[in-house]
Amino acid sequence: MTTQPSQAETMLGFPADFVWGAATAAYQIEGAAAEDGRGPSIWDTFAHTPGNVLGGDTGDVAVDHYHRFAEDVALMSSLGLTAYRFSISWPRVQPGGSGAANRKGLDFYRRLVDALLEAGIQPWPTLYHWDLPQPLEDAGGWPARETAYRFAEYATLVCDAIGDRVANWTTINEPWCAAFLGYASGDHAPGRHDPEASVRAAHHLLLGHGLAAQALRGDGRRVGAAVNLYAVSPASDAPEDVDAARRIDGLQNRFFLDGLLLGRYPEDVLADVAPYDLGVREGDMAIVGGPIDQLGINYYNRFFVTGREGAAPAITSPFAQASPWPGSEHVGFVQVGRPVTAMGWEIDESGLAEVLTRVGTEYPSVPLYVTENGAAFDDVVSAEGVEDPDRVAYLEAHLRACHSVISAGVPLRGYFAWSLMDNFEWGWGYAKRFGLVYVDFATQARIPKSSARWYASVIERGGIGL
Ligand code: NOJ
Repeated sequence: MTTQPSQAETMLGFPADFVWGAATAAYQIEGAAAEDGRGPSIWDTFAHTPGNVLGGDTGDVAVDHYHRFAEDVALMSSLGLTAYRFSISWPRVQPGGSGAANRKGLDFYRRLVDALLEAGIQPWPTLYHWDLPQPLEDAGGWPARETAYRFAEYATLVCDAIGDRVANWTTINEPWCAAFLGYASGDHAPGRHDPEASVRAAHHLLLGHGLAAQALRGDGRRVGAAVNLYAVSPASDAPEDVDAARRIDGLQNRFFLDGLLLGRYPEDVLADVAPYDLGVREGDMAIVGGPIDQLGINYYNRFFVTGREGAAPAITSPFAQASPWPGSEHVGFVQVGRPVTAMGWEIDESGLAEVLTRVGTEYPSVPLYVTENGAAFDDVVSAEGVEDPDRVAYLEAHLRACHSVISAGVPLRGYFAWSLMDNFEWGWGYAKRFGLVYVDFATQARIPKSSARWYASVIERGGIGL
């Protein structure tokens, strides 16, 4: 008689209550840019300015999720997702960035949240995924302190509308990108090249997070922020490489982690950006570092950093880095020959274990979620559908890294694949596909890729097959 191996012997199992999700963001998927009272955001302005986005692509139509959300929720159900991370478009809710709410805008999110709850999928909204109402940019944008207060008011409007049905909230997404790609390198909206504005934007985004967190907490709601963390290694032991790595790690990782979890900014980073005034006022850091219930971590790759002349800039835009961000002057990024995704980003899952372990062991304990992780590849549709074995391998390797840190005691509670479906990839427009689900941008047909089926089987079994 043969005996069946037990599931434990054939599977790397995750905790029973592990959150299995996928993520998107409003400007990247919704479209309906001028519908039902939505106002313009900085991304509308930026994308409509020639030379900013590959192919002149915009989010005007995107993947038409605004009209197809019911179909998209059905897709999520078919994958067995237990949670869906999406973002709320500030200019849809509050077209001018201040004042009364646009009821039709809020109604869209009410319908979406109700559809998710009906399908047994936890809604995980993010309040700011880079689409600042244009009137607020005209009034100074994130470098202006007032924007942080406007953000908290907007958070209150959203909370009043759906706070009774939404338990898990993310205030801001990837503040590093919003601040430094938006206001220093100019690769992202609003496309400014002003280092002082970028450091002020970074502080005000975190201040806005803290003020919004105060507005959201209560009635069992759990609030956090989502930061993009990188594994950072010096390209060699040379002192200039080691110092370059310290600077990059400082501004990309520690500035945000220390701010959010310790309520202070690292001294060495403040020294690095000393020529600039961050605009920190008395009492701010207690707000920035106020209590949070969870932290979202977006992870894509490791940087090997050099301080020597001549290395390439980091790949943040198809137009290359127009100007450096503070701290990245005289810094280069070296590739070490690992396989790359279609973004040119080297694949290194050990970096995910490294950043999770770092946050889990070096900072006050807070539940962690991988709020984004995934890869772009050049997917093609054939008669059989879309086979994307590279993406399956990427996701599997990174989920193994998640499993290993959980086994080591890191409080990682969930994982959101980026992205549910192909969408508008910022400066690359529609040229880069990150989805589990392929989207034919001409017909808006959704075609689950083999990675979607693979992820569904992982969720169904609660782990990765050995
Ligand atoms: C991080 C951002 O939050 C998301 O909007 C973007 O599409 C992915 N990274 C991939 O670049």
